[in-house]
Amino acid sequence: MKALYYAQANQDKFLAELKEFLTIPSVSTQPEHKPDIERAAAWLWDKLLTAGFPKAEVMPTPGHPVIYAEWLAAGAEAPTVLIYGHYDVQPPDPLEMWDTPPFEPTIVGDDLFCRGASDDKGQLYVHVKAVEAFKETAGAPPINIKCIFEGEEESGSPSLNPFIREHTGMLAADVAVISDTSILGKELPSIVYALRGIAYVEVEVTGPDHDLHSGSYGGAVHNPINALCAMIARLQDEDGRITIPGFYDKVRELDPEERAELAKAPFEREAWLHEAGVKTDWGEPAYTIVERTTARPTLDVNGIWGGYIQPGAKTVLPSKAFAKISMRLVPDQEPAEITQLIRNHLTEIAPPTVSVEVRDLHGGDGAIVRRDSPAMKAAFRAYAEAFGKEPVFIREGGSIPVVAAFQKVLGIETILMGFGLPDDRLHAPNEKFHLPNFYKGIETVLHFMDFLGE
Ligand code: BES
Ligand code: ZN
Repeated sequence: MKALYYAQANQDKFLAELKEFLTIPSVSTQPEHKPDIERAAAWLWDKLLTAGFPKAEVMPTPGHPVIYAEWLAAGAEAPTVLIYGHYDVQPPDPLEMWDTPPFEPTIVGDDLFCRGASDDKGQLYVHVKAVEAFKETAGAPPINIKCIFEGEEESGSPSLNPFIREHTGMLAADVAVISDTSILGKELPSIVYALRGIAYVEVEVTGPDHDLHSGSYGGAVHNPINALCAMIARLQDEDGRITIPGFYDKVRELDPEERAELAKAPFEREAWLHEAGVKTDWGEPAYTIVERTTARPTLDVNGIWGGYIQPGAKTVLPSKAFAKISMRLVPDQEPAEITQLIRNHLTEIAPPTVSVEVRDLHGGDGAIVRRDSPAMKAAFRAYAEAFGKEPVFIREGGSIPVVAAFQKVLGIETILMGFGLPDDRLHAPNEKFHLPNFYKGIETVLHFMDFLGE
């Protein structure tokens, strides 16, 4: 396949472009970055046209724009693949923990460090360059291709579901492909077949209606931060089991076959502890680490604040306390239901001294995809070709809610064709993308499209 040679010969050019893409701080959750989001969208649109897409559009939504492109070069008989990716990134905080500036792409050895390098600009760009390689060598890709790239994934995709529902005809395809997950290791290709869902809430606890001197009032006025901490402490037992009534009612339990299969994928506890930077693991003793991080639901406080947090000591009994709490969900838990359960429970366990408000920040469904489709077989063969080793099937603990939306609204399955590595530090300082995976990713996609077009 000539496209492979083009991709190999143009690695430096592809890398230079990716670095340009990465310098745009397209943080979706922070309003001050709206112009950067627009810039990233325009940049990507331009690259889609260069890659050969005869049609590419930046489409407005109530939030950040969706980029849609299509190249239906292979005719009605050939399959159509819908490629999804996101051009927005997580905030770079905490800034002081980065070894190099977060939006200055920096190469160290084989790794490219930058916010968004792996999640998801580098992985998204794999597809754009694969299409370009077909254009430059064969004139066009061997299958029909549609792209949908969103700018709100890292902030819960509020505009995406309505967009998909309004454009089912435009987005119609045989299968979707997403590169926004990781493989098990550099030499251990893997394909994700299950993702967790998420329910995300912000809790506001109010005590006195204004801040008080903690000497004058402490002891007789309940401190809302203390109250919030006590409430949070009651959400889980010592084994990490979540104590919200009804929380586990719909959890689909792992059957023995799947447990046996999950146990077969390579996993080294010591390496995992090292990568996570922890002394020991934690959580439900009846489940393995792999099961706990991919197939069991969780509850985590993502942030907690209130009162005085500047340098030095200030004596204050604050009026308010806040926490952001996320729950990773497994099939068949429903985000809206879980949000209602935690709201009811927090209201119920709040002491009479404070009032509680629970705000729904966002929710997304988990998903399990079919492993026996022709497209999955093509993906399997494509990894084997590009990595020289057959991939294994794994579950992932992160969330890509669009996978469930594609199933429900478009009626199509998704191939989670990830090229990240477990130590890419997604959402954290020093995020990186392993450059050999960038190039092998392009090769994998070229083989995948080639096999699908057979
Ligand atoms: N790339 C991740 C999803 C992911 C994370 C896959 C870890 C595999 C392992 C994606 O960009 C992401 O971070 N999604 C958010 C979704 C949320 C904001 C609805 C997540 O999982 O936190
Ligand atoms: Zn992410």
